[in-house]
Amino acid sequence: MRLMLSMAVALATVTAAHAQGQPPIKVGLMLPATGTYAALGTMIENGFKLYVQEQGGKLGGREIQYFKVDDESEPAKATDNVNKLIKRDNVDVLVGTVHSGVALAMAKAAKDSNTLLIVPNAGADAITGAMCAQNIVRSSFSNWQPGYSTGVVAAQKGYKRAMTITWNYAAGNETVRGFTEAFEKGGGKVVKDLSLPFPNVEFQPLLTEIAAQKPDVVFAFFAGGGAVKFVKDYAAAGLTKTVPLFGSGFLTDGTLEAQGASAQGLYTTLHYADNLDTPRNNAFRKSFALTYKANADVYAVQGYDAAQILAAGLKAVNGDLAKRDALTAAMHKAVVDSPRGKFTLSAAGNPVQDMYLREVKGINNEYRAVAVKALADPARGCKL
Ligand code: PHB
Repeated sequence: MRLMLSMAVALATVTAAHAQGQPPIKVGLMLPATGTYAALGTMIENGFKLYVQEQGGKLGGREIQYFKVDDESEPAKATDNVNKLIKRDNVDVLVGTVHSGVALAMAKAAKDSNTLLIVPNAGADAITGAMCAQNIVRSSFSNWQPGYSTGVVAAQKGYKRAMTITWNYAAGNETVRGFTEAFEKGGGKVVKDLSLPFPNVEFQPLLTEIAAQKPDVVFAFFAGGGAVKFVKDYAAAGLTKTVPLFGSGFLTDGTLEAQGASAQGLYTTLHYADNLDTPRNNAFRKSFALTYKANADVYAVQGYDAAQILAAGLKAVNGDLAKRDALTAAMHKAVVDSPRGKFTLSAAGNPVQDMYLREVKGINNEYRAVAVKALADPARGCKL
């Protein structure tokens, strides 16, 4: 018995020494630091670093070294930007980004160079659909998911005629498609889709059209700075009282302090709610608030969980990146103990997760119900 114990101790020491003798794992953070999504990028980075810090600064026994690029949520610069991390900095793993168009370019570059990629927000359906790959996972959602769950709720509430409004790019269009699929399955009809280019905020002509058409409900996808302005403009136009506004939860996440009275009472669905009263969420929010003097939001959760998924992979191989197949398999098989509730990843690498109905009260998106239990993206076109 004593011999076995000392052998176990010796083995653990060797393993730790093995990891210690190695250079740090290079993590490339490609996130927006400027533009309408800048605050989202900061929350993701802070969430990621918080988890690493809670592990004593190491994952799989290895130190973490960060490299950073501001992607500006600019698809035209995305390939150049991601190659700074892949080719110049030689990172071991890419973490990014917020904007679906930028993330699609990252996924292509990650596939071409076989670099590990963890997507901590961008919902582009193709990333865990037609472009799915063993070296790519997502800690957030597919655009289809929050669109679909909001459509389920809007139909259940008995609305029949809906209008949608969003930015005309992958995230907006795919979220609207998810909403339409569920809303029409539930007996409703989308009578008109409105859009404007990303990241424009001249909402007035579109709000005038909503007022003229008087649908039963409006479904919106906006996020970050654009969401703040949209919700304020919607209320200022007097529409909140006449046409209920629903959205995927990004409409009111990380935005409530700026939206103030205009957001009160809005219903959205998302894979997180601020006041989920679980020991895991309470501990996370406390730790985040102490570290950053700010309230956590869904983006912080997604960053935190991106680090948890990387940790699961590195732990399985004791920090040995050369054991690539075992590493990616462990990442895909991770059971993530998330502040949102435990979740697993689909074969395509996207979270299978409960979608919550939330209502805005003060500066919180408060949990009201589970809108759809364990919702899995259909992963259309994925051949893993
Ligand atoms: C996206 O572009 O995929 C996106 C951006 C911001 C969000 C959600 C999705 O809050």
